[in-house]
Amino acid sequence: MAAALHAGMTIYLFGNLGAGKTTLTRGILHGLGYHHVVKSPTYNLVEIYKISRLYFYHFDFYRFNDYLEWEEAGFREYFNSDSICVVEWPEKAGDL
Ligand SMILES: Nc1ncnc2c1ncn2[C@@H]1O[C@H](COP(=O)(O)OP(=O)(O)OP(=O)(O)O)[C@@H](O)[C@H]1O
Ligand SMILES: [Mg+2]
Repeated sequence: MAAALHAGMTIYLFGNLGAGKTTLTRGILHGLGYHHVVKSPTYNLVEIYKISRLYFYHFDFYRFNDYLEWEEAGFREYFNSDSICVVEWPEKAGDL
């Protein structure tokens, strides 16, 4: 998967608690050449990685109680042509 990724892509990971979304993201980051600790973004909502010129944002929206919280969090600008975004629990942001 890492080999197929390029800037501007967004990946939505759907699956129950403990399905392996963070584990998969950790593998993708390793595949991109990132060999440090990859924390779950469950508490911070986002973990940010810079891999050479690429920005890689790993989100977890599980803690959103309302999809409008996504708008208030100011995350829209993270989704751009210079970044790869991987999102756990995207359904918590509704259609936004
Ligand atoms: N493919 C797998 N094989 C074996 N164990 C796995 C696999 N994927 C995940 N696990 C284990 O399951 C546990 C939960 O995985 P992980 O944190 O990746 O789930 P998650 O989908 O991100 O959950 P959450 O929705 O809570 O963020 C971890 O202990 C992880 O090591
Ligand atoms: Mg997770």
